Amino acid sequence: MTLYWFYINLSEPKIRYILKLVLPFGGEMGKFFKVLALVFVGLTLALGGADDAFAKKKKKKPSLKKMKYVGAAKCNGSCHDPYYQAWVKSPHGGTFNLLKAGVRKEAKERAKLDPNKDYTADPHCLRCHTTGYKQKGGFKPAGSKNKKGKDTSTKIDPDEPSLEQVGCEMCHSVAGGSEMRLVMKNSKGKFKKAETEKFGQRWDYANVCTRCHTHKNTPFQPTLHDKYKFNFEERKKKVHQTDKYWTEDNEDQRLEHIKKRNKQTAKSEETPLIIEDWQIKKDKLKFKKGTKPFNKKKKTFNYKG
Ligand code: HEC
Ligand code: HEC
Ligand code: HEC
Repeated sequence: MTLYWFYINLSEPKIRYILKLVLPFGGEMGKFFKVLALVFVGLTLALGGADDAFAKKKKKKPSLKKMKYVGAAKCNGSCHDPYYQAWVKSPHGGTFNLLKAGVRKEAKERAKLDPNKDYTADPHCLRCHTTGYKQKGGFKPAGSKNKKGKDTSTKIDPDEPSLEQVGCEMCHSVAGGSEMRLVMKNSKGKFKKAETEKFGQRWDYANVCTRCHTHKNTPFQPTLHDKYKFNFEERKKKVHQTDKYWTEDNEDQRLEHIKKRNKQTAKSEETPLIIEDWQIKKDKLKFKKGTKPFNKKKKTFNYKG
């Protein structure tokens, strides 16, 4: 029983850490520790079979109460690496940078914006240039503080874009990807559209683009320049240019179930979800009541019509 307790409490990285600490010791003490460490390793290997049983017990269940934004980086590193790597290099993976002073001066001037102003914390821009702004788990700009005055702004890693750009969750989810991600993981990719949809995945692709493109709040309207006209079929082709990111190492991430899934029709494909409307009042973004696709209190999804 005690050994079992040790086993569950000393997960593998910890054992490796202990080994690292202990191995450099010399003399009798060193020997003693080495033997002890080896016993640990032996036990881990012997009891390895218990791993599955524990993994099953610990499997987190998705919950509508817990839906939140987690950032694009969470979709990388074993599930959708080629999608992530292609996205980093794509326009959506760099939307935060457009808000910096001096970037795209000409376009900003055309839209009557100040080309020398830093817009990276401006509520007028963040909804469409970052992920989950003003929603649970979403992006928080520099200067954000909690009630106690502690800095709560999102940490930005220049080598690993995530919440600070228009990430996966802005197109694939209604209120963040945390729970649909659990469904995907638990089913090892063999989920039905309806199963992830229940936890916030959306499949109304043509509709979701209008959250930003062609939204009445974008400063970049087609009246300013032809390039802002939005043709879904043409633009869709440019979103995931993953071809050159597939390698031997990530080949196992091919979506084996995609053909089956493509035969299914998700509810959001039949009836698209409503599109958020918002205003900036006293420098704060306020979503208009009843325009969010997911009602957090009632736990209901809101469709158009
Ligand atoms: C309603 C959503 C929305 C809001 C709000 C918004 N943007 Fe954008 N922005 C977009 C979209 C969509 C595009 C891409 C347009 C395209 O290429 O068709 C874009 C493009 C841009 C570009 C590149 C334009 C070009 O032609 O190179 C800049 C710069 C930019 N936005 C800055 C801002 C700034 C600064 C703010 C805040 C004052 C802001 N945006 C607010 C949606 C928005
Ligand atoms: C700008 C919107 C947008 C963003 C951002 C986005 N996607 Fe997508 N994604 C799409 C669209 C549209 C499709 C459907 C493409 C098609 O049918 O040709 C899609 C399809 C997919 C699919 C195939 C789904 C299936 O089963 O049919 C995967 C997987 C995927 N995206 C992962 C990601 C990941 C991972 C990220 C972030 C790194 C991401 N997406 C970011 C719009 C987006
Ligand atoms: C959360 C806001 C948001 C959503 C949702 C969104 N976009 Fe964008 N999109 C942007 C912004 C901002 C840019 C500007 C990037 C730039 O100019 O560098 C952009 C740029 C693009 C570009 C690059 C410009 C070009 O034509 O080469 C394509 C393509 C595009 N979007 C397609 C889509 C499609 C298709 C969807 C829906 C499936 C979509 N976007 C949904 C914000 C969004």
